[in-house]
Amino acid sequence: MQRRSRQTLKCWLPWLLGCAVLAWFVSPSLTQPQGKGPAGGDREKGPLKSSYDQVSPVLLGQETFAKMMATDKANKEAVMARQKKLLEERYDLSRRVDDKVTMTRGKPIPVGPAVKLPEGQTWEQLAALAPDEIRDKSLFPRGFLPLPHPHHEVGGMVFPQAEVKQLARLERFDLDFDLPEHFLPEFPPAIFLTTRPDLGDVSKGQMLTLDNFNELFNGILNSKDLEGLRLLVTQFPQQQFNATYDRKAEKPSQGVACLDCHVNGHTSAATHLVGDIRPQEHRRRIDTPSLRGVNIQRLFGSQRALKSVEDFTEFEQRAAYFDGDILSSAAKGINPLERSSQVHFMAELQNLLGFPPAPGLSWDGKLDSRKFKDDSPEMQGQKLFFGKAQCATCHPAPYYTDNSMHDLQVERFYKTQSYNGMVATKQGPIKTFPLRGIKESPPYFHDGRLLTLEDVVEFFNLILETKLTAAEKQHLVAFLRQL
Ligand code: HEC
Ligand code: HEC
Repeated sequence: MQRRSRQTLKCWLPWLLGCAVLAWFVSPSLTQPQGKGPAGGDREKGPLKSSYDQVSPVLLGQETFAKMMATDKANKEAVMARQKKLLEERYDLSRRVDDKVTMTRGKPIPVGPAVKLPEGQTWEQLAALAPDEIRDKSLFPRGFLPLPHPHHEVGGMVFPQAEVKQLARLERFDLDFDLPEHFLPEFPPAIFLTTRPDLGDVSKGQMLTLDNFNELFNGILNSKDLEGLRLLVTQFPQQQFNATYDRKAEKPSQGVACLDCHVNGHTSAATHLVGDIRPQEHRRRIDTPSLRGVNIQRLFGSQRALKSVEDFTEFEQRAAYFDGDILSSAAKGINPLERSSQVHFMAELQNLLGFPPAPGLSWDGKLDSRKFKDDSPEMQGQKLFFGKAQCATCHPAPYYTDNSMHDLQVERFYKTQSYNGMVATKQGPIKTFPLRGIKESPPYFHDGRLLTLEDVVEFFNLILETKLTAAEKQHLVAFLRQL
């Protein structure tokens, strides 16, 4: 029996191989180039839509690395100019910060709203209009619309300048990060362990890497969690950073580490395009979320809704690192992690990452009434949060998340439209991110479109139609800063 089947296989094998090769050549979907240049016009024209659109011409030997890099470098200025123009239309990007209110290690938090209002409008006038009126008159502030990736047609991981300065291996030759430094989390951020709150910030002001993790954590973690941490700071190949010709780093790269984006278990605000969606123009920009407090969360990913930190850790490596593309990942050196001895250790370490201390909060996660008078802005803000402003419907204490997802139906306020290679249309349900420690993780929302807490409050005042007064908005922000 066995010999017979082996013989059958021998005679069919050349046929099967022949068919596969033929299919490769005739299938236009496999050989289409990725979206090109700022205009990305190619995608509109023809039968180019494909779920295999991440297999690039350089990988197939249809273009040389040198030529692709030269073209990308030549286009970079135009790519960044297009994004800068969009950002300047949406936001006042100047540096306005509150030196008295800082993140744990001292970076002042940005103050807004940074979003620009449409000509001749005030926040009060806008809030008085119905959603369809705002939509029909195109009065929704541009900065409240979905934010595109710096080069949406190409996408991929992009690291802020402060980080690239420290780790040159994270530099891309085709584009730079787009948002100004003062709207980003402090770099490097503090680290708090749920198991050792007595130690306070254990980062010693350093960015955790393979070089220093042992020195910083040996004797604080058990050996299993230390191994989990080692894996979290170890580089693994990824779509833009790898050793093939299809990469965006000048030199062949060993890849990125989990904590290159989730720096010190928090975030550097590195950005990316979500892997799950096709075509490219429907993919969302995603801002790296903090891993602080993943222990109390039950849903992971803004829309993917994976159910455990283990699942997400495995998914990052297998899918997100490669734009959800199973063909390129094989070529670029995917590093599947072993579930019980690697994924488990990495997840266990992530589950030790605590929120930063909030000295204003009591055991129930609400303001300590010994520290805040009834008429203080913070206490008034808390009342609004749990009352008129409706925030607590989805962000209940003590962690200020309901561990669910909500469709805010933001599309009630804007017409479907395209800009910078992206379609802004219905977004669907998004995870309710927790608000503990929120002042340390600008920019806000899954795509980072809201640059300050003031912007968040103005946004929700329109979306929820709560008609808050200017003073009420200030009180709400004062409360959010205490979380
Ligand atoms: C671009 C840099 C980047 C790298 C590298 C990276 N992540 Fe992420 N991570 C993100 C982004 C962006 C999201 C949000 C995904 C979404 O919204 O669907 C995310 C989400 C997560 C989440 C879910 C958080 C939440 O609040 O829902 C976990 C857990 C996570 N990553 C762990 C990891 C691990 C483990 C690794 C290494 C294997 C890793 N990440 C590597 C950017 C990165
Ligand atoms: C209907 C449920 C709901 C209500 C009500 C609500 N939120 Fe949210 N909140 C969400 C969801 C969902 C997100 C994620 C949205 C996204 O990323 O696109 C979010 C995101 C946020 C964020 C950004 C979190 C981050 O890490 O980027 C802040 C801050 C926030 N909400 C504050 C508030 C405040 C303040 C109020 C009241 C004025 C409020 N929310 C009311 C569901 C809600």
